[in-house]
Amino acid sequence: RKVSILGVPMDLGQGRRGVDMGPSAMRYANAKERLEKLGFEVKDLGDIPVPSIEERTSNELNLKCLDEVVEVNQVLADRVSEIVAGGSFPLILGGDHSIAIGTIAGVARHYKRLGVIWFDAHGDLNTGETSPSGNIHGMSLAVSLGIGHERLTGIGGYAPKIKPENVVIIGVRELDEGEKHLIREIGLKVYTMHEVNRLGMTKVMEEAISHVTQGTDGVHLSLDLDGLDPHDAPGVGTPVIGGLTYRESHLAMEMLAEADIITSAEFVEVNPILDHSNKTAKVAVALMGSLFGEKLL
Ligand code: ARG
Ligand code: MN
Ligand code: MN
Ligand code: MN
Repeated sequence: RKVSILGVPMDLGQGRRGVDMGPSAMRYANAKERLEKLGFEVKDLGDIPVPSIEERTSNELNLKCLDEVVEVNQVLADRVSEIVAGGSFPLILGGDHSIAIGTIAGVARHYKRLGVIWFDAHGDLNTGETSPSGNIHGMSLAVSLGIGHERLTGIGGYAPKIKPENVVIIGVRELDEGEKHLIREIGLKVYTMHEVNRLGMTKVMEEAISHVTQGTDGVHLSLDLDGLDPHDAPGVGTPVIGGLTYRESHLAMEMLAEADIITSAEFVEVNPILDHSNKTAKVAVALMGSLFGEKLL
């Protein structure tokens, strides 16, 4: 099987410096070599260009850097679509979570009933109206569902990309008021930390896998490293205490590998300048190993 790595050094969807170095950090932690060892034919396509914050021209308060975020995600959607068309598995390295807009726009062009596993401390279900920060990385799941500013929902030339019944969120422990309303309104399946603690990760993943495979033709994994507890993944811009452990996260990846359902993946929000010795990128790459079938025995 073929895997194509594509980096998106995006930092305009949030307010802290350094997350644009996420792709380099994961490469430095040997992402490519890790998957090659498992027998995959891996091509690293390098990074797509992202304007720096100093070159930014757009400056809306409730949709920060809108022009630039739209532009990058449009390019990303096309690149991801090419990867899928070429018969390769797209493995996207972020960059902040606003890049999910482009990744999903590219993948969903080929999978008309795409399932999504959104692994995150947050819901990323804000719009320009509900967001307390104006940061687009907190809106990318809503946008993919067709909710939000039309310049974002229209990326790739169609909307929506995914349906609420084909999505699960895992690891959530911080939601804004508007996000809570939206979850109830559209009936999204959410496993907060409460459910993870109550049911255990095994049960959560069994249910999640059955949910996202019902009536779908592919499943995208969008993994925000802040889904893990900051103790295990400190190098993220919006850490929230009380998260998934290293082992729970590996178990989730191992169960996805076993179920063999994932058709594309992205690892986002790795910020090496907020980190200790590149710990978070190393965790991200270890999780990639498990996702692609690594086993001890
Ligand atoms: N809910 C907050 C906001 O909208 C935080 C979002 C964090 N998102 C992320 N992808 N880390 O600003
Ligand atoms: Mn930059
Ligand atoms: Mn998050
Ligand atoms: Mn996120």
